[in-house]
Amino acid sequence: MIMTSRSHAAAPILEAKGVTKQFGGFTALDTVDFAMAPGERVGLIGPNGSGKSTFVNCLTGALTPERGTISFEGSSIAGLPAWQRARKGLVRSFQIPRPFKKLSVIENVQVPLRFALAQPPAGGSEHKALEILESIGLGPKAYWSPKDLSQVELRKLELGRALAASPRLLIADEAMAGLSDSEVDEIVELLERLNGEGIAIILIEHIMRAVMRFSQRIVVLVAGKKIADGDPHEVMRHEDVERAYLGQ
Ligand SMILES: Nc1ncnc2c1ncn2[C@@H]1O[C@H](COP(=O)(O)OP(=O)(O)O)[C@@H](O)[C@H]1O
Ligand SMILES: [Mg+2]
Repeated sequence: MIMTSRSHAAAPILEAKGVTKQFGGFTALDTVDFAMAPGERVGLIGPNGSGKSTFVNCLTGALTPERGTISFEGSSIAGLPAWQRARKGLVRSFQIPRPFKKLSVIENVQVPLRFALAQPPAGGSEHKALEILESIGLGPKAYWSPKDLSQVELRKLELGRALAASPRLLIADEAMAGLSDSEVDEIVELLERLNGEGIAIILIEHIMRAVMRFSQRIVVLVAGKKIADGDPHEVMRHEDVERAYLGQ
């Protein structure tokens, strides 16, 4: 496996060891090790079907791996349901935006504020939701229906819903698919700003321009195995990584 040197001075915010997930006889994840420092920006890439979303589902608690350990901020999160992991600050956004269509944009952010936080936000959930929407540029559309939002606005709303849970680690699973170049830049800038506020971010993305711009480190999954982990340029130069992409 390709590993470039990188020292982690801080204790990891997330540490997964030997994570293995099977669906029937099919091994979707094969003994995957992954660690992340607080505030780090990691790009997780790999061909379609390589296990990226399965890994995220194991981290967030939507799936239970057959083997392996996962700890968050120093303690094991094995067996905790997704909502408890979210309360600890381990939060993901979905590949396909899933707003509640009958609720307004702001209500869509109020729902996770009410359910993902251990305590209701000071000043009330509407006030806090508006603050979040303003921070991601959706303030003027707070009382719109999600039906009337554009694709990029829906992606932002999806991130806003994740932000409502006050993440320490945010996993953005293909938050940019189908967007134009300038919209991709908008989402990257938004993620950079959130990272600047101290949120560690895992970016799962096929748009390599965005991954290279955003990531301090790149991890590559191929057929459920981690084949590379390290400096973005060094990882992308490696022939195994090239082959995995050409072979698609
Ligand atoms: N719930 C499931 N049941 C059976 N197979 C699944 C399930 N989820 C994912 N898989 C399979 O596991 C593999 C990895 O899928 P996934 O993690 O979604 O890949 P990626 O996100 O990298 O595109 C694929 O072959 C997929 O078909
Ligand atoms: Mg996926």
